Amino acid sequence: MDSIIVTGNGPLKGQIPIAGAKNACLTLMPATLLSEEPLTLTNAPRLSDIKTMTTLLQSLGAEVSQLQDGQVLVMSSHALDNHVADYDIVRKMRASILVLGPMLARDGHAVVSLPGGCAIGARPVDLHLKALEAMGAELELKDGYVHARAPGGLRGGVVDFPIVSVGATENALMAATLAKGTTVLKNAAREPEIVDLAQCLRRMGAQIEGEGTHTITIQGVDRLGGATHPVVTDRIELGTYMLAPAICGGEVELLGGRIDLVGAFCEKLDAAGVSVEETAKGLKVSRQNGRVRAVDVVTEPFPGFPTDLQAQMMALMCTAEGTSVLEERIFENRFMHAPELIRMGANIEVHGGVATVTGVDRLKGAPVMATDLRASVSLILAGLAAEGETIVNRVYHLDRGYEHVVRKLEGVGAKIERVSDR
Ligand code: UD1
Repeated sequence: MDSIIVTGNGPLKGQIPIAGAKNACLTLMPATLLSEEPLTLTNAPRLSDIKTMTTLLQSLGAEVSQLQDGQVLVMSSHALDNHVADYDIVRKMRASILVLGPMLARDGHAVVSLPGGCAIGARPVDLHLKALEAMGAELELKDGYVHARAPGGLRGGVVDFPIVSVGATENALMAATLAKGTTVLKNAAREPEIVDLAQCLRRMGAQIEGEGTHTITIQGVDRLGGATHPVVTDRIELGTYMLAPAICGGEVELLGGRIDLVGAFCEKLDAAGVSVEETAKGLKVSRQNGRVRAVDVVTEPFPGFPTDLQAQMMALMCTAEGTSVLEERIFENRFMHAPELIRMGANIEVHGGVATVTGVDRLKGAPVMATDLRASVSLILAGLAAEGETIVNRVYHLDRGYEHVVRKLEGVGAKIERVSDR
């Protein structure tokens, strides 16, 4: 199994290109199931999660081909011959549940394995199911699978989400495009990935208003057509690499970066003493002298501070001047990186959903274990700031969400390498 070895670094300098968003691509791909005509996605990221979604769509009878080294995905669902999303694929990736709404909306039936728990918490799918029920779906849970039917087709309804869910909003939005009548999604998620999905669906002929606000209204249409759509920039990859010069010092330009994707995060960087500037090509992040200041962080749905940047922000706070409090409000078990950071000399106390981090002068390299996607990259960031060598094991997590991580960081002067079987 591969490991990544990072050696503590001086200032970084250069440019890092930011890929298309994994989380947007994972909801745009199932949108192909809504139409018989081809959907082409450009600016797709090259990641193992995208391969898993490809395998899932192919298992349902969709055709998926990759062009331009995987940056362009051409998909066609003109002949779906299987409506069962198998446990063996779904268990690998929770986003698999996103095929449920589209399949049900187009063909009136679908069977999808329940994804089960994952390392960062229980993560149920009850909100996805309730939303589809509000549109007339008949659901039965049997042997670990959701059996969904809508014999006369889905019909418009009002879905009032009790809590904000990105995935449930996406599933309901896709399903509603082909439901009869009007669907109103209240307390909808406002993430940029939802806006991107709505834009793509509109290109396919859907009638949608209000994406990016709390209320999305969808007027169902009889059929959707084909489209070509560019995947939005990955704001989590962007935020992660913005932290590299924040941690090591230096100046790095993030190509394709946009402030509107990372507003709350930039406010925290600013408060910590890290400078972020808009350029013609993206965002430039620099930190010149001294340690950053400790800042407090609370994770919230967009436009708040993203839970997917909490682990990386903790890595920065490990060497900040002062004490910071990081409160995780989205997932109940998302501090698995803390014990690993402590092995590198960090001073962190975790009580429930709150981590208190008191900055130390310098972290020390150590062998550490990646436990999930964002945790693994936080350990790489910490390794960049540490004295000596940090060996990050189980990097397959990283391959799910970061393309060419070694090449991108090496390109700005980091000492990082990937090795097999160490
Ligand atoms: C998506 C992102 C993930 C990110 C998360 C929050 C993808 C592929 N993944 O995950 O990277 O961390 O948003 O920004 O886009 N919940 C329920 N019932 C449900 C659904 C969710 O109780 O049916 C709860 C979850 O356990 C969690 C909260 O709602 O506590 C938010 O989860 P949600 O927004 O649905 O996350 P995902 O869409 O799974």
